[in-house]
Amino acid sequence: MNQVHSGPVSLGPLLSKEGRRDPNPFYADLHARGPVGLLTDPADRFDVVVHGYDAVHQALRDPALHVMTGDYPDRRGTRRWRAHAALQVLVKSIFFTEGGDHTRVRRLFSQAFSARRVAALEPAIVRIIERRLDRLAELGTGGAPVDVLAEFALPVPSDVVGELLGVPEADRDWFPQRVRAFGAILDLGVGVWRFQQAADAAAEDLTGYFRDLVAARRAEPRDDLISELASASSNTGAIVPTDAELHDDELVANLLTMYNGGFVTTTHLIGNGLTLLLDRPEETQRVLADPARAAGFVQEVLRHEPPTHFSIRWAAEDTEVAGVPVARDSRVLVLLGAANRDPARFPDPDAFDPGRDQGQPLSFGAGPHYCLGAVLSKMEGQFALPMLLRRFPDLALAGEPGPRTTLMLRGYETLPVRLS
Ligand code: HEM
Repeated sequence: MNQVHSGPVSLGPLLSKEGRRDPNPFYADLHARGPVGLLTDPADRFDVVVHGYDAVHQALRDPALHVMTGDYPDRRGTRRWRAHAALQVLVKSIFFTEGGDHTRVRRLFSQAFSARRVAALEPAIVRIIERRLDRLAELGTGGAPVDVLAEFALPVPSDVVGELLGVPEADRDWFPQRVRAFGAILDLGVGVWRFQQAADAAAEDLTGYFRDLVAARRAEPRDDLISELASASSNTGAIVPTDAELHDDELVANLLTMYNGGFVTTTHLIGNGLTLLLDRPEETQRVLADPARAAGFVQEVLRHEPPTHFSIRWAAEDTEVAGVPVARDSRVLVLLGAANRDPARFPDPDAFDPGRDQGQPLSFGAGPHYCLGAVLSKMEGQFALPMLLRRFPDLALAGEPGPRTTLMLRGYETLPVRLS
């Protein structure tokens, strides 16, 4: 059955100041009208919006709907994107690659995220969290306010993904500013173009950093993922890499995007989760009393306040979603954050209920591009939040957390707290 909305849909309300602060009323309105909408206002820059839970699931698994590969702007005859270092990096990364190249690169990187390898990281994760808790205690002595986002939610996942990939500890403080500049162009809305120049400069810095690191590890391998992948990559410039190979450009682009995507997302899982716990002391007590509850809690944080509200696809050929025709070349906005609040899947969707048993939210996507770091980031959340609140049982907000205004990498800029 064709389930398109009866009337026109516009992204205007979502991208307004109020919509960015709280997109959920907009999502509720969409759900009342059907799972897929057609966008007719050129200002929206998308042709179709998909937001029903089942429809999002279907769209993310449809082989006709591609991530934003370089083919899309090329097919439309716009070649300006090639002048931008940040866009060049993105299209060389797994996030924006399709077909055989995607399978080859995903196979190489998924070794790093196997259940065994992630489980083996557990002692390192606990150590990293403990060290950052010690640092928080120092900073918060005598009731001084501390930014728990900058001093805990950001460095913990940065240290974890740094550990996984092999980014030296001494270099990690150099990243956040550049990662923020690079990530700013990933949000929705034409306004993001004003960040392009800064994103290109950050991409050049980050590319240079990872290129040097790959060269150093190739010369003197260590026991880390970068050394392993450096030996699988080649800088011979072969046009068609063999199965065992990665081009150096691909390796660098993937290290950069994986490192960036691997910590800011998890930072916001921790920050968003903490504010939900602070508002619910009885839930905090339950999570602390029974560590098994942390998994359900983290899953509900991911559903209720996902760090990533959308993915983007384009139709490489004619297709359909929930019975709605999607023409070749259409730009499709896939609203993961809306799917997580679909009342047809999650009854009373705005209620925060860690006891729900209605299956996985779509915060990590679905299908061939399903997040490689899902198990790792859930594990980080399940350790970090209880350990933080066990160490500082009187932790309380020391001011209003700054508003959340982005839909990609959605979380607080700062989170001032007092530890006692
Ligand atoms: C709460 C934390 C995280 C969230 C919400 C998240 C979200 C997502 C989403 C929605 C996608 C799919 C994008 C699409 O379909 O277009 C994705 C892909 C991906 N994520 Fe995550 N992510 C998180 C943490 C991580 C971590 C910790 C890592 C690595 C250390 C990671 C690495 C990746 C990679 C490599 C992909 C691309 C997979 C592919 O294209 O085949 N993510 N992530």
